[in-house]
This record gives sequence, structure tokens and C-alpha cells, in this order.
Amino acid sequence: MRVLSGMQPSGTLHIGNYLGALKQWVEAQSVDAFYCVVDLHALTLEIEPETLRSQSFDLIATFLAAGLDPDVCTIFLQSEVPYHAQMNWLLECVATYGELSRMTQFKEKSSRKTGYRVGLLTYPVLMAGDILLYETTEVPVGDDQRQHLELTRVLAERFNNRYGSTFVVPVGVQPKVAARVMDLQEPTRKMSKSLSSPLGSIYVTDSASAIDKKIKKAVTDTDNEVRYDWEHKPGISNLLDIYSSFSNEAPQVVAERYTRYGDLKSDLSALVIESLAPLRTRHHELMADPAELRAVVTNGAVKASEVAGSVYRRAAHAVGLI
Ligand code: AMP
Ligand code: TRP
Repeated sequence: MRVLSGMQPSGTLHIGNYLGALKQWVEAQSVDAFYCVVDLHALTLEIEPETLRSQSFDLIATFLAAGLDPDVCTIFLQSEVPYHAQMNWLLECVATYGELSRMTQFKEKSSRKTGYRVGLLTYPVLMAGDILLYETTEVPVGDDQRQHLELTRVLAERFNNRYGSTFVVPVGVQPKVAARVMDLQEPTRKMSKSLSSPLGSIYVTDSASAIDKKIKKAVTDTDNEVRYDWEHKPGISNLLDIYSSFSNEAPQVVAERYTRYGDLKSDLSALVIESLAPLRTRHHELMADPAELRAVVTNGAVKASEVAGSVYRRAAHAVGLI
């Protein structure tokens, strides 16, 4: 099994990113796991250069604080392995304009602004390259990346059919619960870095009092019955998903223990605070040691380049480059 996944350095992670992706990454880490900060992807939207740089290091610190071990898996910055940009071009010449313009995330993000960047359209091709460069078999990501994963498979198969067997065709893996954590204030919308209301997202470095306040104020409903039922009770089901993901139990089992919303919220608050406390402390320590973070990604880029280089050369040769 070969694992690769990536995350954009677009600000502090919320518990959706953590439960939907990072927690799975930690569980799947091995010598065959590659995890990257996709800093090139962050350039598809406006971002201050200094902000991009500091958020990239911050994300590396979060990876380590969450339990990724650079002695076990490979942790790197996408831009420091030039094969990603090169593979992007080979795959852009396999992908079609039509299929890229049909991507849901592109339609959402491009509709918010006139004069969007071309990179926003080709974003999933760069992502496909990230994955295919590592002969990846499994990609642990949240539910919102399903469509991009499917496109990656389509591009890999199209390339293999046209140029001969070159790429391993990967599958996406989502966690059983919390693959789509919803906004605490609007439980029919996913928790998001950019669009959430101030009380809608819990960030992994939030203080205990901030976490407690957000959970206590989370939107529920008026019938006051604790039941796991996404269709009729999205607010409570979201809280049960978060609970069960942190406690590694089934959400239905958690639901059976509670009759009152208040009790569920109090226990959930204590659980989230306790689970995230070590991450928060470690993140703080790591941010004070930029040399250590630099060393981790420098070493990671060397290890990643070995694998990515050989796959890139195979693909370049297959299309006819000398
Ligand atoms: P991004 O911040 O968009 O780079 O996302 C990083 C990872 O977090 C990806 O694997 C996403 O699928 C995952 N993710 C983002 N938002 C959520 C959410 N609300 N629930 C679960 N997973 C999420
Ligand atoms: N598009 C992903 C997101 O927004 C980030 C990403 C880029 C990624 N390259 C990847 C995820 C490769 C998994 C594998 O979350």
C-alpha cells in the first residue's frame, strides 16, 4: 500500500480537516506514506507571499503536532519537488477543458469572482499529478475531494491507454464517520476555512474556552431527543459524528448514552478539549523552532524526489520526450 495526501496552507486547520483527513494520515503513516503541503495549489487564490510562507510552516508544525513522524513517513512541500509542476503539464495535455470546467469546486470558487485564475480551473490536474507521481494506491481525504479523486483515476487510465501502462490507478479513502464535518451554526453546510461563521468552526489550536463556547452554542433543534439521524437532525448528528470520531465509537452507540442535548454537549466539549490539548501544546513548541521544521521538509523533499523523479521520467519517456 502506498499512501499520499496533501493539504493547502490556507490557514489554521479546523476539526473537519483534522477528523476528515489528518487523523487518518497519522493512522496510515509508514515508510510508504507521503504527506505534503500543497503550496502551489494555494496560489490559485489571492494570498500575500508572506502569509503563504508562514502558513506553510505552520501547517508542517500542525502535521508534526498531530503525530506525523518524519522518521516514519515523508513530509514535504510540494513546490520543493519540481516534478509536481512538470507532471502537471504532461497531465494538462491529457485532460480536457470540458471535464475541468464541470468540477463542482471550480464552479463554486470561480463563481465568487470575475477574472479568476486559470490555475483554479487546472487545480485538479496538479492534484492528480501529486498523486500519480508516487504510485499511490490510497489517498486519505475528506468527502469533498471525491470528485477530484475520480478525475485522477480517469486521467491515469486515459494516459495508460494512450501511452502504455505508466501510472498506478489510486482510490480515495474516507473515514467511516466525520468525512464531512458540518458547520456548527449551519449544519447543512460543511465546515470551511473561508466561509464559516465565527462560531461555526472549531480550529485545532483553539483555546479550551473557545472550544467550549462553540460547542455550547452549536445549533441543534427543538425536539430534544438525542438520535443519530442526518435527515431530520443534522445538528445533533454532526455533534455525534465529531464525538464518535474522537472517541473511536459508533455514533449510534454514543447517542444511546444521552437523553439531553446539554449533557451531550458538555461531554463533547470535554472530549474535544482533552483530545486537542497535546496537539496545541506541541504546535506551540514547534513554531518556536523553525530550523527543525526547515530540516524536516528539506529531508522530505529529498526522499520524495527519489520516487517522484523515477515516475516522472517514465511518463515523460512514454509521451515521447527525449
Ligand atoms: P483543504 O483545507 O481544502 O486543503 O482540505 C484538507 C483536507 O481536509 C482534505 O482532505 C479535505 O477533504 C478535508 N476536509 C476539508 N473540509 C472538511 C470537512 N468539513 N469535513 C471533513 N473533511 C474536510
Ligand atoms: N485538493 C485538495 C484539497 O483541497 C488538496 C490536495 C492537493 C490533495 N493535492 C492533493 C489532496 C493530493 C490529496 C492528494 O483538500
